[in-house]
Amino acid sequence: MADLLRVENLFSVAGTTVLVTGGGSGIGKTLTKAFAINGARVIIVGRRQHVLDATAREIGGDIICVKGDVSTKDGAEDVIQQVKKAVTVLDTVINCAGISIPFKRPSDNLDDPDTAADLLSQVDDADWTETHKVNVNGMGAQFKACVQPLTPADPSGPYFMTVSAIPLLRKSDNPNVVIISSVAGLVNQRANGSFTYGVSKAGAVHLSSMLAGRLHPLKIRVNCICPGIFPSEMTATTGADGAVALGRMGTKAVMRSTLGRPGKPEEIAAPILLLASKGGMYMNDTCINVDGGRWLVMKGIYDGLRLPDESYIN
Ligand SMILES: NC(=O)c1ccc[n+]([C@@H]2O[C@H](COP(=O)([O-])OP(=O)(O)OC[C@H]3O[C@@H](n4cnc5c(N)ncnc54)[C@H](OP(=O)(O)O)[C@@H]3O)[C@@H](O)[C@H]2O)c1
Repeated sequence: MADLLRVENLFSVAGTTVLVTGGGSGIGKTLTKAFAINGARVIIVGRRQHVLDATAREIGGDIICVKGDVSTKDGAEDVIQQVKKAVTVLDTVINCAGISIPFKRPSDNLDDPDTAADLLSQVDDADWTETHKVNVNGMGAQFKACVQPLTPADPSGPYFMTVSAIPLLRKSDNPNVVIISSVAGLVNQRANGSFTYGVSKAGAVHLSSMLAGRLHPLKIRVNCICPGIFPSEMTATTGADGAVALGRMGTKAVMRSTLGRPGKPEEIAAPILLLASKGGMYMNDTCINVDGGRWLVMKGIYDGLRLPDESYIN
């Protein structure tokens, strides 16, 4: 018992097999590194082979690259067919792939009635379907056949990826699924430059809970992580000198957190290592904010909490 309570045993992921969608960049790359350098075999999935290969080369360790598109049922099943050629079990599936489609004519003038109406009217069918295909995942055959339009509340989620992985997860002693949602799925933030993103991430939160409810007979745990701002391809740019700079929205968003800074790699890696380790085996259907207090600020915004003036859009 005493041995198990040692940190290196409690949080060990050595010898486990982990799949990370979107594992080639941003938060996914951080997770890939965290698992790989701690002795896990990591399968990373994305649409750009060169990004996956570069990540595997940079990190080293036991990383398998699988080129694939997780936004459809067929795509998710194809990924798992490729995975099955390399491994016979999956202990952890991390649904990290995600996209955010910005407004086509962004504006800071959010209190202007004409602007408010225009921002909403410029969102089109593709914005909704593409965002939900990846973030809540996969209209799959339905989407391709265009027989059933996707509604904003459709909770089909990193659903297909998780469901396709069930046979491999069932072979694990500690099978678990992590869905990376966002604090944007919890709070109503006008400052976010996309409308569909927030709705899709709210869907991802509930999807996680529903999957936990359905998968417990198989002993598969499902938990959700809601990150605040972390530098990534989605939120930042990298200069020729390698310097990473948050975009405008990200810069303002971090001011709306109690810590007032973006998250660091270790701060997003730690809770997910916990969920995948022995120490996390009693955790199921949780939704963990890893946001430097951003949710606290956002939900308290009408409760007298004073924000820095420069954090306001208008
Ligand atoms: N960074 C933040 O501040 C933040 C905050 C809250 C939540 N999140 C969430 O964290 C997750 C990771 O995002 P990130 O910020 O790290 O951005 P990122 O660097 O853009 O990573 C997104 C990854 O998803 C992959 N991807 C996108 N569509 C895919 C598809 N159809 N099939 C397979 N892979 C796909 C991309 O690779 P390919 O383009 O090569 O496919 C990319 O590697 C997302 O779910 C995002 O919504 C991020």
